[in-house]
Amino acid sequence: MIYINISIILAAGEGTRMKSNTPKVLHKICGKPLLTYVLNACSKAKINKNIVIVGHGKEKILDYYKDASISFKEQPIYKGAPYGTGFAVIQAIDEIPDDSIVTILCGDTPLITDNSIKELIDYHKEGKFSGTVLTATLEDATGYGRVVRKESEDILKIVEQKDANNEELQIKEVNSGIYCFNGRALKYALSKIDNNNSQKEYYLTDAISILNNEGYKVGAYNIKDSIEIFGVNTRVQLSLCEAEMRKRINNNFMLDGVTLVDPNSVYIEKDVKIGRDTIIYPGVVLEGTTTIGDNCTLRGTTRIVDSSIGSGVDIESTLIEDSIVGDNCHIGPYAHLRPNSKLGNNIKIGNFVEIKNSTLGDNSKASHLSYVGDADVGVNVNIGCGVVFVNYDGREKFRSIIDDNAFIGSNSNIVAPVHVSEWGYVAAGSTITMDVGEGDLSIARARQVNKTGWVEDKGLKKHK
Ligand code: UD1
Ligand code: CA
Repeated sequence: MIYINISIILAAGEGTRMKSNTPKVLHKICGKPLLTYVLNACSKAKINKNIVIVGHGKEKILDYYKDASISFKEQPIYKGAPYGTGFAVIQAIDEIPDDSIVTILCGDTPLITDNSIKELIDYHKEGKFSGTVLTATLEDATGYGRVVRKESEDILKIVEQKDANNEELQIKEVNSGIYCFNGRALKYALSKIDNNNSQKEYYLTDAISILNNEGYKVGAYNIKDSIEIFGVNTRVQLSLCEAEMRKRINNNFMLDGVTLVDPNSVYIEKDVKIGRDTIIYPGVVLEGTTTIGDNCTLRGTTRIVDSSIGSGVDIESTLIEDSIVGDNCHIGPYAHLRPNSKLGNNIKIGNFVEIKNSTLGDNSKASHLSYVGDADVGVNVNIGCGVVFVNYDGREKFRSIIDDNAFIGSNSNIVAPVHVSEWGYVAAGSTITMDVGEGDLSIARARQVNKTGWVEDKGLKKHK
């Protein structure tokens, strides 16, 4: 029998305890929303179709995932509307084929792995169960539904904490909120669920006892690592999930050959890529789609966002956004590469240098205190200390071009648009407003005048 694997992910709840205007499942850990982790785990577990149940904050969720292939189902949330995990799943009933295996998960449990989902599905199939719940054994089961087993060890039912008797409250095996059902059996169970309980909610958990009572075979699969079922209800739990996810990400990097001197103080987001033998010191933050090559050293409070860094690059205490850096460059300390900066190989960007929307060719240098904005700089160019590319006249921005092997003396202003040709030399302290020809020296400052004995002549000395 070939089954279609689908998932139903519950994300309609209000998430009141987050105290937030953002729907709970859009809160991020390691740079991605909680829901994205659940969706990715499902895809990796070979689930072909994801159905997400939305309600509170649905506009924001639909907007965030507008380009993803997700089937959304809306749960009505008007005041007094029916409520509960069972009612949420009922919203997807038309999308459940009879011959499907339906994995149900919550959008706020981002630590679940594709491996555990696969194991649950395999257990469900091999045991020929109609419904299987993923369970975990916890030291402190407070708040969770308890898994009640028969003498035979088979699962009997799930009891919510608020409906449990004293004996049931002692049970340490809990419902993870993750299940596998055969499509046909699930639809049957959903048709029987009522809200006859302490919370007047339609409990999905009742599907287990309903199927049991009707003679279907139901199973319970105990997860190996209970942290995977950890859910987010508050920002404290959000930070605990973040810490666990960060640990996983950092461990993977270390196992792949990246040295993290202190993994607890390095923040690397989910999609970042780092090459072998790169060494990362405490305080480094790597975000978004950043890629770092081999043999790099990152130190200090460095933050790199959506940027590509080559191999053999040293970076210290620097902010890099949306930029590209070639191989063997030295950057920082205290540099800032603003969006759309593109550096070739062997480049040095030193203390307090800001680069914006500019390209620099191989072997060029801006070692101290410069602003390079809207410029195309060739290879082997030296930009002296304190050079400013004056790119803005108060209304419009202009570009400047500095050709290969040019030399821009310290404390010069390059007033755009201006073109310095190959081997052009700009004398220190110049304000360049006209093009500089190939191999020419340009001095654009008042000539120095020395007036001999001027202080004496003015009679200034006697006043001291
Ligand atoms: C549920 C389980 C409990 C289990 C726990 C695991 C039930 C009745 N109880 O309890 O046995 O131990 O999860 O975390 O299922 N949701 C909707 N629509 C609704 C209600 C909830 O989409 O009408 C969503 C929520 O957004 C959330 C998920 O379902 O993502 C779970 O709901 P929640 O209220 O947190 O269930 P628990 O009380 O934690
Ligand atoms: Ca919950």
